[in-house]
Amino acid sequence: MGLGFRLFGRPILALQDSERAHSRAIKLLKLLSSNPLTRLPLRILYNPNKTLPVQFLGSQYPHPLGLAAGMDKKAEALRGWENLGLGFIEIGGITELEQLGNPKPRMFRSGSSKSLVNRMGFNNPGSEKTAENLKRHFDKFGRPNVPLWINLGKSKLTPLDKSSEDYSTTFKRLWVYGDVFVINVSSPNTPNLRELQNDEELSKIISACQEVNKKMAAEHKIDSKPILVKIAPELDDDQLKLVVKTAITSGCDGIVATNTTTTRPDPNSPSEEKVFGQKGGMSGKPLNKISTEFIKQIYRITDGNWPIIGVGGIMNADDAWEKITAGATLIQAYSGFVFEGAGITKSIVNGLHKKLKQHGLSSIEDAVGLSHKTEGVE
Ligand SMILES: Cc1cc2nc3c(=O)[nH]c(=O)nc-3n(C[C@H](O)[C@H](O)[C@H](O)COP(=O)(O)O)c2cc1C
Repeated sequence: MGLGFRLFGRPILALQDSERAHSRAIKLLKLLSSNPLTRLPLRILYNPNKTLPVQFLGSQYPHPLGLAAGMDKKAEALRGWENLGLGFIEIGGITELEQLGNPKPRMFRSGSSKSLVNRMGFNNPGSEKTAENLKRHFDKFGRPNVPLWINLGKSKLTPLDKSSEDYSTTFKRLWVYGDVFVINVSSPNTPNLRELQNDEELSKIISACQEVNKKMAAEHKIDSKPILVKIAPELDDDQLKLVVKTAITSGCDGIVATNTTTTRPDPNSPSEEKVFGQKGGMSGKPLNKISTEFIKQIYRITDGNWPIIGVGGIMNADDAWEKITAGATLIQAYSGFVFEGAGITKSIVNGLHKKLKQHGLSSIEDAVGLSHKTEGVE
């Protein structure tokens, strides 16, 4: 983390309402990245000095760290994220219909535990407006220079048994813009959404999206796009095995582990107690070990043969290394940006570069799942 952020950014952030601070930060990033005079310093300050090329589902990524879903729900600052040196950007979650989300306040921050609790409830412009915004952006600036992922959620008004139509409509409207799509059935903030992780519902959603995928690919004469599923960290062993099996047999290309948790650690202070007591999903440091354990489990279930994207509590290069060696090919962060600042990408990528050297490895792919090999079959 930059000294500037430690000394000034974090204390200023601490004084602001979490959601307001978040939206100001996105607006500032958008502004800084739209002017060549400020864009250059952004690059110099925040871009990693090293590249760590990773092949993922047929595309090349400059390094394995991407922006997690939820940070840029409206795809407002695409050029900003590119200029901060992210390896890929996930926007959304986008639902078929525009939604305001839950009443405010709905985002809570605990600096001492480096955690957030949110119950946003998929506030987003909806699939039609997002398609228009992306078209405008692509017409003006072209495609982003790193892969663009799109997170798909379910509209609150859509009944659960019509979910597959909701997801596949959004998917169709955004298909041309995204490089990878993530079916999010794991947000804790849309009533009963997590029920969609069950066998039948999940395969219905994936199949509906794959049908659209085939049609769109044929129409545009290009390959179909990778579809991933994002899961909650509250599944038990059997549920996790079933989700993985269902996703693989329905044609899903990989898994994002994990979304936020509804569990809470013991608070260490009254201020932590206040934040931890809020309803919603917790992200950040307390989620770190939980999500890494999930990655390990998925890696074991699939014998390391199915792509895993690791997300949850990554704050530094050590956390990133743990996720990769547990089995993740790519990693993402949200809370890390809030608590460590924009310099987190540079410090993680440079740190991973060092780790590869220390272990005598030449690429990130060589490190994926390494802990299983060194620890033996756990
Ligand atoms: C305010 C907020 C909003 C989020 N919105 C979404 C979302 O729309 N879709 C999604 O799949 N995950 C969403 N997430 C979850 C993150 O993408 C990520 O899985 C989670 O925060 C754990 O990563 P972290 O510990 O690095 O923050 C959201 C997280 C936060 C904090």
